[in-house]
Amino acid sequence: MTIEQKRVLTTAIPGPRSVELHARKTAAVAAGVGTTLPVYVERAGGGIVVDVDGNQLIDFGSGIAVTSIGNAAPRVVEAVQAQVADFTHTCFMVTPYEEYVAVAEKLNELTPGDFEKRSALFNSGAEAVENAVKIARHATGRQAIVAFDHAYHGRTNMTMALTAKNMPYKHRFGPFAGEIYRVPMAYPFRWPTGPENCADEAFETFTSLVHAQIGESNCAAVILEPIQGEGGFIVPAPGFLARMVDWCRDHGILFIADEIQTGFCRTGDWFACEAEDVVPDLITTAKGIAGGLPLAAVTGRAEVMDAVHGGGLGGTYGGNPVACAAGLASIETMQAEDLCGAARRIEGIMRPRLAALAEKYPAIGDVRGRGAMLAVELVEPGTKTPNPELTAAVAKACHAEGLITLTAGTFGNVLRFLPPLVIGEELLLEGLGILEAAFGASA
Ligand SMILES: Cc1ncc(COP(=O)(O)O)c(C=O)c1O
Repeated sequence: MTIEQKRVLTTAIPGPRSVELHARKTAAVAAGVGTTLPVYVERAGGGIVVDVDGNQLIDFGSGIAVTSIGNAAPRVVEAVQAQVADFTHTCFMVTPYEEYVAVAEKLNELTPGDFEKRSALFNSGAEAVENAVKIARHATGRQAIVAFDHAYHGRTNMTMALTAKNMPYKHRFGPFAGEIYRVPMAYPFRWPTGPENCADEAFETFTSLVHAQIGESNCAAVILEPIQGEGGFIVPAPGFLARMVDWCRDHGILFIADEIQTGFCRTGDWFACEAEDVVPDLITTAKGIAGGLPLAAVTGRAEVMDAVHGGGLGGTYGGNPVACAAGLASIETMQAEDLCGAARRIEGIMRPRLAALAEKYPAIGDVRGRGAMLAVELVEPGTKTPNPELTAAVAKACHAEGLITLTAGTFGNVLRFLPPLVIGEELLLEGLGILEAAFGASA
């Protein structure tokens, strides 16, 4: 069913039926499973989420960068319905099926690098990252993994160890997996000696820490999000990524690009590494890959991926046929509708408006991101002191007006915008208007 692409508020947000359901949630669901905005969803499509009270909210979150092609996208609905009717599961490791192979072929073709590749499919981003680490360790015979400040790689034991932020992700969940080392991120806005020195100094710090604390020959891989997601849409200082990857290659250290949030057209390219011509050895993907169905992957150099013995990788549900059918339909949609182009058009509309907002409100310290992955970092005016209170207030004011926005950042002071790439221009402009009014009321 198509949903009218229009914001409609019929009740306060959340409305009475959502409030009722939220009371049931509190009584039935573990308290640790949080909620950003407790409106309960009935339907969603394009740039609109319809709640159980009949409100229609504008979506600037895409379920955290997942429904880039829109919710219940027609090709996905058709492919999933057909697949569900044929068969729902056999386990690819028992009796395989074409859909899994076809997704692997697509990933090998679309990811950067014109060498021979292989892919393996999983259920979640965290599971893909876990497996990328397993593969890197096995292929190199080395153990150390280097991760960055502000990184987010998931919530399983290994990925918690890779994730940088304590609250809410790690607090009292240790002990964590071993042989993980952390280095500073090339974060231009917060680089101590200024953004102009960030790329060079971050590179020097990176190489000297790896040399002094790990030893190059003990280092299996470096993992980095080419634009950090949960950490606050931090774009590494230009040049840092390419230099770091070259140096790793010189020392036999693999580079794992975690493209789980940045992948599949989100930043205006199929993968964010492309903007700097960086070719990873291994790439992890999930989120935007399958229009909302749980699918994730590791794709990489054939000789690295194939180093692992038969039976060493897998899982009961990894590459489930329904998820694979959704993945193929999603990729087809991205190609047919040129969603990389759409992400660039969204940036063309949003970035000037965010820049104008930053001119008006000195609490906006930085505007950054790429494509349809944009953010503003909020500070105490005239300083770089994080301002999480204002961030929460602006997000709350947006929510009350029916605009779904998300926050992020190690200090909780980043408002991030991840609209579906299929959002119409009118909704995008209306959402920006709501954001501007929210700053007017809160800043
Ligand atoms: C960059 C990155 N890596 C890994 C993950 C973990 O993915 P999942 O939540 O599917 O386990 C996320 C999720 O936000 C992410 O943004």
